Amino acid sequence: MHKNKSHNTLNSELDAVSKALKKSIKNLDSYTHVRGESLYVDDVNIRQGTFHAVVFDSPKAHGKIKHIDYSKAEALEGVERILTYKDIPGENEIGGIIADEPLFAEYDVHFWGMPIALIVAESEFIARKARGLIDIDIEELPVITTAKEAKAKGSFINAPRSFSLGNTEKAFADCDYIFEGETFSNGQEHLYIEAQGAYAEPLENGNIKITSSTQGPTAVQATTARVLGLAMHKIEIDVTRLGGGFGGKEDQATPWAVMAALATYHLNQSVKLVLNRHDDLRMTGKRHPYESSYKIGLSKDLKILAYEAEFLQNSGAAADLSPAIAERTLFHATNSYFVPNVTTKVLSCKTNLPPNTAFRGFGGPQGMFVIESAIAKAASEIGVSSKAIQEANLLDENDTFSYGQIAKLVEAKNSWNSAKSLFNSEGLEREIETFNQNNSNFKKGIAFMPICFGISFTNTPMNHARALVHIYLDGSVGVSTAAVEMGQGVNTKMMQIAAQVFSIPIEKIKIETTNTTRVANTSPSAASSTADLNGKATLMACNSLLERLKKVASEDLNVSENEISLQDEFVYINAKKSELSWTELISKTMLKRVALTENAHYATPEIHFDKTKEKGHPFAYHVYGTAITTVTVDCTRGTYEFDSVKIVHDYGKSMSEGIDLGQVEGALIQGIGWMTLEEIAYNDDGKLLSNALSTYKVPDLFSVPKVVETIPLETKGHDLAILKSKAVGEPPLMYGIGAYFALQNAIKAFNPNYNMKFHAPMTAEKVLMGLYEDSK
Ligand code: MTE
Ligand code: HPA
Ligand code: MOS
Repeated sequence: MHKNKSHNTLNSELDAVSKALKKSIKNLDSYTHVRGESLYVDDVNIRQGTFHAVVFDSPKAHGKIKHIDYSKAEALEGVERILTYKDIPGENEIGGIIADEPLFAEYDVHFWGMPIALIVAESEFIARKARGLIDIDIEELPVITTAKEAKAKGSFINAPRSFSLGNTEKAFADCDYIFEGETFSNGQEHLYIEAQGAYAEPLENGNIKITSSTQGPTAVQATTARVLGLAMHKIEIDVTRLGGGFGGKEDQATPWAVMAALATYHLNQSVKLVLNRHDDLRMTGKRHPYESSYKIGLSKDLKILAYEAEFLQNSGAAADLSPAIAERTLFHATNSYFVPNVTTKVLSCKTNLPPNTAFRGFGGPQGMFVIESAIAKAASEIGVSSKAIQEANLLDENDTFSYGQIAKLVEAKNSWNSAKSLFNSEGLEREIETFNQNNSNFKKGIAFMPICFGISFTNTPMNHARALVHIYLDGSVGVSTAAVEMGQGVNTKMMQIAAQVFSIPIEKIKIETTNTTRVANTSPSAASSTADLNGKATLMACNSLLERLKKVASEDLNVSENEISLQDEFVYINAKKSELSWTELISKTMLKRVALTENAHYATPEIHFDKTKEKGHPFAYHVYGTAITTVTVDCTRGTYEFDSVKIVHDYGKSMSEGIDLGQVEGALIQGIGWMTLEEIAYNDDGKLLSNALSTYKVPDLFSVPKVVETIPLETKGHDLAILKSKAVGEPPLMYGIGAYFALQNAIKAFNPNYNMKFHAPMTAEKVLMGLYEDSK
């Protein structure tokens, strides 16, 4: 489709686009996105003879496999082969953190949707038909679907983790108010537009290349090598872009790639495996549901003196990333507040759900929901606003987090106060009060939501990246990093860096696919750190090349190196334009036999964490912000509409304002969806009931707030952020938590007898029940 335009027309159009971009940088991918030209796994040009695969998965959540009869499926014309655990030449193991997850079930099944076999056929249609012909006999075992049940039965993934600061026991004795309670936050479906998938092709000498929709190419490579019993260098992973990941492809893109590669290994033919939406929803894990309990103690002047929380994480049937996610829950348990005495504990509870996994915020949102609930509960019992408690406890410079890090360059109060004044929050509160006095069928609610999110992989050794930069002899540039473009705009940011260092137009830069043969041993694109880590590596590589080019230029022009600079595709001497252009400089560098390629490695400095003490300095920096959310509830129907979300966000010094604003708005809506609409439901047998978009409601155009206004916080930025532009991918999701509490307040305005609930999502049904409950 994209081939019927001449290259020249395309190029001149791109030129025009990039000129416009210089004014305000937009995501450069929008050009191919809107034309339908962006390439996803399903768009790979497949080889003649390619086979298509479909996964046969468990129709029960827990049991022993008594018998499977594949004979009818195998006999179907067009079925090439059915692969099971017996066909695995290496290890039947895909667990990344803990080795507790087989690629294919052997003797027992642990969740509904657990892969058992791969049906390889001439077409996907035939493979699906064959799947319906497989007979399986499972002896059912008891099913655990909730974290509480798992805890009661002692079913855990690993040992619990606990953070502590000060002495909560002693501090509670000094509190004027103490409140305890329980909260629940549900899971969340990633609903990336591009479902999970991979395409494996045989190369020479038994080597295999996989095109995968993964955030973690190295994880796919390493796991494929492990399962096939091959060395990693025999497996090449290539990623062009993802149609969304949201954490759902940090770990869980791996099994499908491994399965496709296993089939390629046996059949010496290309194999394509792309899940359809139903299969994806059923077989993959989601955000972890949490059941938590808290105890909060305050002084008369509303200072939080002590906070205890126990988090029960519903991890699902295998560890996946649960231990790391549990850890991040503890890191964010006190959000942007300073609490001098804290004891938190998290238990990763093993249940018979698909293994739950990374999802934007990575356990942080779940932890933050609990302290916000505790504050709301305390406020309603004491008879003050949540805002009063929130404001009295905001983090200050040099405060200590429960994990020992000293808070530096804190923007908690700055963002809070800026939001209050820039958005005239007192006026807004008065408006709401007046509205509520004058209306009986509609009520409004307001909530403040401050955020504080730590940037870095919590697992310190993962904080590194590399970049490989080539300058071609015509002066065009190719950049390879480990960054995976998943819609967050990281490719545009990488281009900006190279363009800025060399002072050449953005169209001279190409971001290559993410490929394990060019950049190896990488961390996944996750933790909002992709641009920081890969961008710093790119910056280093480009700067090294720049130094080399300056040297060549100084020799050529007979001036000293420190007089040379590059500007707008020309060499400048003491800020004066010379005759020597970028392209000529590159040819001269070639003729002098000086390398035009550079590889750089970046590892975040300063960070460390000691898991035996649960203390350290795990984050390069924190991102702050404050959102003010207002909602109107229709008190006859229980339906609601968000009037506005007004945000002051700490971008540092944003290097790409359009992209970063898109991240804030997208994350906000995703957070509101999690808190209000999206209701994952499994029945007691562990079967996913919300298995289609007819039964799983996500935000659409009609559920976004009428007004979303985001103002950048004035700050100096942070040196560990790429070009002082702070990580932006995950933090704003947590502004969505404000939506939950705005709703609570609106219900309370209608029904003074309403007992606040801390059980997300706050769906219209729950709102309606709350409006008419009589708890007194
Ligand atoms: N934005 C889009 N459009 N698509 C995505 O899949 N993933 C989010 C966030 N924003 C995502 C996104 C998640 S979970 C993370 S960790 C970051 O982007 C990853 O990219 P970054 O590290 O470049 O911010
Ligand atoms: N965030 C996101 N993904 C991760 C992390 C993290 O802290 N650690 C391991 N994978
Ligand atoms: Mo994001 S949850 O770290 O992929």
